[in-house]
Amino acid sequence: MDELEQAAAALRAGGLVGMPTETVYGLAADALDAAAVLRVFAAKGRPTFDPLIVHLPDAGWLERVAVPSPRARLLAAACWPGPLTLVLPRTAAVPDAVTAGLDTVAVRVPDHPLARELIRRCGRPLAAPSANRFGCVSPTTAAHVREQLGAAVAVVLDGGPCRIGVESTVLRPDPLPVILRPGGCTRERLEELLGEPVALAGREDRAAALALPAPGMLASHYAPAAPLTLREPGAPWPADPALGLLAFTGAGLPAGPRHEVLSARGDLAEAAAALFAALRRLDAAGVRAIIAEEVPAHGLGLAINDRLRRAAGKG
Ligand code: TXA
Ligand code: MG
Repeated sequence: MDELEQAAAALRAGGLVGMPTETVYGLAADALDAAAVLRVFAAKGRPTFDPLIVHLPDAGWLERVAVPSPRARLLAAACWPGPLTLVLPRTAAVPDAVTAGLDTVAVRVPDHPLARELIRRCGRPLAAPSANRFGCVSPTTAAHVREQLGAAVAVVLDGGPCRIGVESTVLRPDPLPVILRPGGCTRERLEELLGEPVALAGREDRAAALALPAPGMLASHYAPAAPLTLREPGAPWPADPALGLLAFTGAGLPAGPRHEVLSARGDLAEAAAALFAALRRLDAAGVRAIIAEEVPAHGLGLAINDRLRRAAGKG
């Protein structure tokens, strides 16, 4: 039995699988099996009020789980497979465990051949959060998944390093389009496709959209183990060798502290793909604290800065 078949069999039996996608690795379970979905929350240590994304192999499966609006159809046709998650009214097929009891469901079609083949072989949509322990940095390689969740999964399918490196954009298209989480699909592209402005939810709006019991609860998501602080724009980098520096282009870095440069040529896509692995390396080096700089706030920069602010506890 090949690895894909082994993974599909584990999912059909209610087990968990590490699944590569173009954004980050997911911890997948059969989305229509409430007991399997609860195992995902338990393995991650994730609170059950934070709902999961349902992954489909193609847009043809959408109506099994959601009720698409005209905006949703337009975006699904233009952006799938790809890093866009749509929050839509759900159908009765989706268990409460997936949506945390909300009347909406988050859905996307991942742009990774192994993920889509896995879902097809399994024959069921897969619920998958990022495959990290709750509150930790998302995994962008199969090794990251094995380190944190190896004991919880039947198989980790190795699809290589993730091409995009930050999670999907979560968009609620109706009644007016709002980005609930900036991610791999840029706001500029969504506005161009829809021909109308797309709002960006702040932390409180996001919590309200999810009806979280404590707004700000998720502020320290995506955090490395070492405390992370954002460098004041324009301020010099500190030279303390006990620190780890996370730089965008690396211009002006002092000699001494350990550092990571996200993209020497200032390319935001390259920086996004490098972000989570760079945070993990600084952590593994045992630095006392991480000082990071924000990147230009357009395109993928919105997602990168969102993750950095959350890691700094300023979600
Ligand atoms: O790129 C990604 O989206 C990755 C890969 C594995 O697909 N998945 C991922 O899942 O990042 P997770 O669980 O780490 O993040 C899902 C986000 C959370 O912010 C959650 O609150 C939001 O989607 N979400 C899920 N269902 C929702 C709903 N019904 N309404 C609003 N937000 C929802
Ligand atoms: Mg996550």
